[in-house]
Amino acid sequence: MNCETMLEISRRPSGVEGAKILKNDFFCKKNHFSKFLRPLEDFPYFIQALWRKDISKPSFKRTFKKKSAKSRNFARQMLIIKTKCLKNMSQKIVAGNWKMNKTAPEALLLAKEMAQQTLPSDVTVILATPALYLQNIRQVLGDKKGLYAAAQNCHHESRGAFTGEISAEMIQSVDVQYVIIGHSERREYFKENNAMIAKKVDLLLAKEMKPIFCCGEALPIREKGKHVKYVSNQIKEGLFHLGHADIKKVIIAYEPIWAIGTGLTATPEQAQDMHLELRKVIRKKYGNEIADNIRILYGGSCNASNAKTLFAQPDIDGGLIGGASLKAADFCTIINSF
Ligand code: 13P
Repeated sequence: MNCETMLEISRRPSGVEGAKILKNDFFCKKNHFSKFLRPLEDFPYFIQALWRKDISKPSFKRTFKKKSAKSRNFARQMLIIKTKCLKNMSQKIVAGNWKMNKTAPEALLLAKEMAQQTLPSDVTVILATPALYLQNIRQVLGDKKGLYAAAQNCHHESRGAFTGEISAEMIQSVDVQYVIIGHSERREYFKENNAMIAKKVDLLLAKEMKPIFCCGEALPIREKGKHVKYVSNQIKEGLFHLGHADIKKVIIAYEPIWAIGTGLTATPEQAQDMHLELRKVIRKKYGNEIADNIRILYGGSCNASNAKTLFAQPDIDGGLIGGASLKAADFCTIINSF
């Protein structure tokens, strides 16, 4: 459903669904809940403007400041509801990056186990398997809804004399749509830079494929407090040449390098802060609609025990999971953590 606002939803016949979300997830207290279920036009202008997130206008900011503490608090709650509702209504993504693990029989077994699961309908599940097995794994997954295979990389040229490499077109020819690009391990060990990754984005989009664009900072960068600037720059150089129609098709995965495979997870607050910052950068260039809807996944020691708190953050739309995606039981717990 295209959910513009919770209040608008609550006015429609299908508002029951919206009301259920509000009731279950946020406001069990009757009074609190019911005061939001009124037509948007019944609310003061500044609340309407806030709901529509028209808060960039200086005149609105001035109005907001002048309101009583009670009104400001009400408005704040409304904005939280909106963010959470939009998140609840939107598709979440959990992708497993198997990296260089598993023999062919092991890989097929895990894919079969995943294909047998009942998956939540609002979560897209992606298995980024070693390229060698993609064709077989694609067959194992068949047409199961919500479960897809992905490649872990593709080359930045479309074809030619690049021994050992795999092109976007080859991946597409085995009916695989998703491709991870710019993973920090590729950036570090194979010296991939933002310009190469930008080329990969273009090749994939030209084939109507779906890039999962990774970004993230190393520990020294975070320690110097330069992480927001650094990761924003990866996004700018890797993606900002895209037009509005194309950027929408990209999934971003924020993976702080210091948290990958180390057991050191970013705290939910650290991850949320970064996702919010990245959304701001995207908002500045592409506007509210794209910034609010682009999927930003968290990766870096995300596992069955911490996924719930990470996924509860308003700007985290899912996860890119390494080690914990190698066992069906753990991966399924993560998938069911929203
Ligand atoms: P871990 O979950 O093993 O830390 O790996 C994260 C990752 O790199 C996913 O791409």
